[in-house]
Amino acid sequence: MIDKNDVNNLAYFGGKKIFATPKSTSNLLQPDIEKFLGYSRVFFEHGQYTNNGPNIRLLEKRLADFHQTAFCVTFSSGFWALALAIRALAIDGRNEIIMPSLTYRRMADIASWVNLKPHFCEVESDTLAMSVATVEPCINENTALILGVHPIVNCADSNALVDLARQNNIPILFDSVESVYESTSAGKVGGQGDAECFSLHACKLFNGFGGGYLTTNDENLAFKLASMRTFGFLGADNVAIVGGMNAKLNEIHAAMTLASLDDIEDQVALNRERYYTYKTHLNSVMGVRLLEFDEEYQTGYKNIVIELTDEWPLNRELTIEILNAENILTRPYYYPPLHRKPMSYPYILVNLSITDSLAQRFVNLPCGQLVSNDDIVNIVTFMNFIATNAIEISEHQKKSGAK
Ligand SMILES: Cc1ncc(COP(=O)(O)O)c(C=O)c1O
Repeated sequence: MIDKNDVNNLAYFGGKKIFATPKSTSNLLQPDIEKFLGYSRVFFEHGQYTNNGPNIRLLEKRLADFHQTAFCVTFSSGFWALALAIRALAIDGRNEIIMPSLTYRRMADIASWVNLKPHFCEVESDTLAMSVATVEPCINENTALILGVHPIVNCADSNALVDLARQNNIPILFDSVESVYESTSAGKVGGQGDAECFSLHACKLFNGFGGGYLTTNDENLAFKLASMRTFGFLGADNVAIVGGMNAKLNEIHAAMTLASLDDIEDQVALNRERYYTYKTHLNSVMGVRLLEFDEEYQTGYKNIVIELTDEWPLNRELTIEILNAENILTRPYYYPPLHRKPMSYPYILVNLSITDSLAQRFVNLPCGQLVSNDDIVNIVTFMNFIATNAIEISEHQKKSGAK
């Protein structure tokens, strides 16, 4: 149990931290090392380290099977998977890309790489997801592509978004980085819209030491992207596809991802346990609402997000600082939203009052493979302690001059 029964003992005021090592919001999966070494031996003995080697070919086949799609193309990162897919899909001569503002912090940079202007859409206040109602008003004659980004917990209604895109003859690409294991009313995530993009960053469900991939049922698109990630080659020294670059995934990343893929069911079972531990214990904390996974669909239970409601007695910034000081690395959910970030490239600003309000309320709590159920009990007990002692903490903060 944690040893905090006096506000003076908070690490924020100089006391000992609850956790000696940080408990983070990153997944940080360490798959079975023997499996990783086994896959690594394959490429090592084969003497091929990149350029469509044996592990990349196996990984692309296995990821396509996993997502029930016809094709998978791997990339050096999720960022380049998205950038190249947007470039391949966007309607020529148009310059706007519709995306939510309450999303991944680098999403507008991706748009700028492909010379498109983000047209930020609202999200729904109950799901934090973009929807037909929030996207439709943003569609105009300049819309080159809809980027359907799923929120961190549960999915946007991809079926309805695809219908909207098709009715308007606009391509739709999904960023499903946080939804690897999920399904929606349209089926397993991976085969929806024109294509879907994923990341293999160590903080995601599959750890590839970094990397990314795209799934699609469109053969021409898969062929084009496989060429674009390899300089645009169509044959030896024949660079025939415009917009190519070096964005290949190499063999050691594929080996790590294959080992992660082998572990996926165990990992999801552990995530589920962690989620239920949070759910049971957070029930007793006033002013905290856990965003629940919609178990009607398949889910990977990866991320833990809470809302600090009006009953929570401390402001969010101070709450996060107090938790971080204890090595409970919490993060404000997608804050600031993209339209509130200083940007030197153009974007289209509409009224995003729901996004602005939501951006103040949510917090990502520690999760992933290095967080045990006992850690979770300690985290929640500590949250209860600071909520119960909020007045004393505020007074102590004023007196001590802590930030
Ligand atoms: C929603 C989302 N999209 C895209 C990315 C980019 O992925 P990568 O880090 O592999 O470039 C991230 C990374 O955190 C993300 O969270």
